[in-house]
Amino acid sequence: MYAIYQFLSGYFIKTSSDKVLDQFTSKSSRQRANDLKETLIGRISERIRDVHAEVDSKPFFTAILNYKVTPEAYFYYLFNMYHIYKTREQALERVRSNSIPINQVCFSEIYRTFELERDMNYFAKILGIDINSIKPFKSTDNYITYLNKLEKETPIKLIGSYYIESYGNLAGGITIAQRIRKTLNPDPVGMSFYNYPELKNLTINWKGKEVTRPTPGQFKNYFQDLINVLLLSEDEENNIIDASYEAFKMIGEVIEELSPY
Ligand code: HEM
Repeated sequence: MYAIYQFLSGYFIKTSSDKVLDQFTSKSSRQRANDLKETLIGRISERIRDVHAEVDSKPFFTAILNYKVTPEAYFYYLFNMYHIYKTREQALERVRSNSIPINQVCFSEIYRTFELERDMNYFAKILGIDINSIKPFKSTDNYITYLNKLEKETPIKLIGSYYIESYGNLAGGITIAQRIRKTLNPDPVGMSFYNYPELKNLTINWKGKEVTRPTPGQFKNYFQDLINVLLLSEDEENNIIDASYEAFKMIGEVIEELSPY
């Protein structure tokens, strides 16, 4: 049996549910898909299916998929995401020391505030936009207010919002990045959001083996497995499922507000 370690703040920390996690990660892809149905991730997946399809078909994403996105639309996407990610990541860092499950899924290696800031500044410069002269969308403000409320009242729900967007970036982000690259042809410095160089600092358990320098694809499955083996009450699980849905809905509203661009 292999032990699983997270490399956090310079220390290797052993996770609490190594045996259960080994059972997940050593399964074949087909077994894995089947097994996930009965898990927390499976329940989240069920709950967000319709809203995912709804958000994907909004004009901003169809423009991306059809190689028609404008630099303005992409800039405003980055700008609004920056404010959302920054709020959530700062909240996670404040609450993680008081919550074992939150601490177990927080990886600064997949945080995106810094990357979003870099990309946003790159596009702002190209477009001649003064970032200090513009404000986040109303839908972004609503999402930020929601995240601040979660931090105060039900921090466990932050896992839902964090999972939805982190997994979304690690999964669908690959397609989105390819399209953006082809359509807008930015310098690599303007495409940091979809790059995860810091994953090379991690060692994860992948199909029963210790893997150093995981790829985003390996990491995203590991991330799901890790969430599935968290020791949570039924109430906590339900809270995370609700928050996943609420986060997707709110992201959908931000995407909707991008339509005029
Ligand atoms: C055009 C836009 C998008 C595309 C093309 C896309 C594509 C995909 C694909 C191909 C998958 C399955 C891949 C896998 O699980 O490895 C997936 C799953 C997922 N995506 Fe997206 N996605 C988009 C937008 C989003 C957005 C905006 C979010 C979140 C804010 C998101 C969150 C997720 C999540 C949470 C899953 C896992 C779903 C599940 O477990 O059933 N996606 N996406």
